[in-house]
Amino acid sequence: MKSQPERILVTAALPYANGLLHLGHLAGAYLPADMYVRYQRSKKRDVLFLCGSDEHGVAITVTAEKEKITPQAVVDRYHELNKATFEKFGMSFDNYSRTSLPLHHKTAQEFFAEFHRSGVLKEKEEQQLYCEKDRMFLADRYVEGTCPNCKHTEARGDQCENCGTWLNQAELIDPKCKLCGTTPVVRTTSHWYFPLGDFQKRLQEYIRERSERDGWKDNVLRYCESWFKDGLQDRAVTRDLSWGVPVPVQGYESKVLYVWFDAVLGYISSAKEWASRISQPDRWKDYWLGENTKYVAFIGKDNVVFHCIVFPAMLMAWNDAGREQYVLPENVPANEFLNFEGQKFSKSRGWGIDVQNFLNHFSADSLRYTLAINLPESRDSDFYLKDFQARTNNELADIVGNFVNRTLAFTEKNFKASVPVAGSLDARDKEMAMLIAGMPSKVGAFYEHYKFREAVIESMNLARAANKYFNDSEPWKTSKTNPERCATTLNMCLQVVRSLAILLEPVVPAMAQKVWSTLDLEGTPCSAGWESAAQQALQPGHALKKAEILVTKIEDEQIDGIIKALNEPAAAEPPKPPAEVKPLITIDDFKKVELKLARVVSAELVPKSNKLLKIQVEIGAERRQIVAGIAQHYKPEELVGRMIVVVANLQPAKLMGQESQGMLLAASDSTGKLAILTVNAELESGSGIK
Ligand code: MF3
Ligand code: ZN
Repeated sequence: MKSQPERILVTAALPYANGLLHLGHLAGAYLPADMYVRYQRSKKRDVLFLCGSDEHGVAITVTAEKEKITPQAVVDRYHELNKATFEKFGMSFDNYSRTSLPLHHKTAQEFFAEFHRSGVLKEKEEQQLYCEKDRMFLADRYVEGTCPNCKHTEARGDQCENCGTWLNQAELIDPKCKLCGTTPVVRTTSHWYFPLGDFQKRLQEYIRERSERDGWKDNVLRYCESWFKDGLQDRAVTRDLSWGVPVPVQGYESKVLYVWFDAVLGYISSAKEWASRISQPDRWKDYWLGENTKYVAFIGKDNVVFHCIVFPAMLMAWNDAGREQYVLPENVPANEFLNFEGQKFSKSRGWGIDVQNFLNHFSADSLRYTLAINLPESRDSDFYLKDFQARTNNELADIVGNFVNRTLAFTEKNFKASVPVAGSLDARDKEMAMLIAGMPSKVGAFYEHYKFREAVIESMNLARAANKYFNDSEPWKTSKTNPERCATTLNMCLQVVRSLAILLEPVVPAMAQKVWSTLDLEGTPCSAGWESAAQQALQPGHALKKAEILVTKIEDEQIDGIIKALNEPAAAEPPKPPAEVKPLITIDDFKKVELKLARVVSAELVPKSNKLLKIQVEIGAERRQIVAGIAQHYKPEELVGRMIVVVANLQPAKLMGQESQGMLLAASDSTGKLAILTVNAELESGSGIK
């Protein structure tokens, strides 16, 4: 690849639509990807930035089973929530797709069918874990056991999250069914295998070549080397499951593709969806099949094997067949993990914060900035709320915000809010001019090399130097003693404000845009172009708008409140979907139900039950017994004499050995409160209700 590719394709790992995004995800893959893309766009490069929801995999089925809803309902919920969170966070995806789309199923099936047709895949009978109680094969997350590598006790059937090892479920020590906890048995089933081992040599060569060319990160190379050292093995790419992409091979209709086989292809589907959305259905090929595309795949460290080994091998296999030639990742800049307040994020322990909600209270830019400064680029790092507050207040507000505000306020007061004419530059001015002239290439080099923390730190150094320049130049004195000097100082300061907007746009886009608007410049900091941050492009006489507050400082109480809430879990529960809406019925349907008023004659607890009450009612001349599950809400004696509403023509049923000849009506809400229906006038029992 030439040093200047024609196009850049950027993908960020497709998050599972099975839970809410947390800060670790943002720091692992998404923020660096977005910063990289925003930088490249500012460099005027042709970038396509893709992501979407990963909507298959066993975890989603497990959630659906737990909540007694369909897997589709699970992914619909989290797709929307995560998409909205990304938007709020300022992610600038060109397309955010989802793998449950027919378009994606088709893409994944095409790959599988091609591998099947060309003999790449091998069919094997294998011993797999089968739960006799749940009557199913325990794929991936349906089974848990001890990792043979690191001895972590919660390793899943396909991967140990602790050490990242990609496992074969047969290797798990002491496996247990995730659904019922029993020990599974071993049974034979047949699956299609992708011959990863056959690709090892080429993969090693590929990684060596790319890493020499584009500088792969040490952590990524280390992971790859350890897999190569162990020797790559064939991997099953089909599963005995029903949720997923159906296997397009005869006899396999009841099985689906392994989630990772289809997920990585989601990047291709997302490009196709983007192309059809802009009504240029073939445009995706310019990026994916372009000879001159640089493809960069942003991920977290747990995804390394799939992006550095599995996906490239799949693309090689496709390219070997001589059809379209897909571009392989030029780099896979994976980050390590981010911890939260000193501990790992954990959904089950409720350890983390709801990002969506967090962004209702704090600006995305504050969060982006703090995460950027703490990115786990080469080792695990930490996010502390107190640090978030300090970075916002002492750096974003006191360094950048302060410099911009004092410059604009001073100009407003002393130069009628227009850019003053610079006189001749003294040594200090020249030094400042030199500094901004060198910034785009200096900061740019960090971006090009995926060193995002350093890119931000370097950009902030300009703001720091600018404050010092302002102080040392003492314009509040020269405004009286040497107006030309003062004008030169402020001209320079305003030039720096403009440069800062361009240089900081990748990390704090909303704030950069605000600065841009205050300077009353056309377009955006990005459209001005990265290189123009080197110039003193503000024209003397150019009128400025009134300065606004750029950064809102964060109060102690705001932070303390969250820290307190953290220790009271359950708050982070995702919203439940609205109650199921039933289909319309006709009045005749309704008339089939015979509702009547009944008077409670007596009531008693059903023996050995703490929920059921046995109630004798009078319906006109008739006597009946009704058993109702309301014992936790009403004492038997509270009911006697009450007029209630019953369904009089319900088939009798037996509840805990007691005959129930009807049903009483009651309302209950989501908090679990319950109240029986009654009428607020004296009516005769047996009265009809319509
Ligand atoms: N859903 C996976 C995760 O969150 C990432 C999938 S990346 C893809 O770990 F490329 F496979 F889509
Ligand atoms: Zn089981």
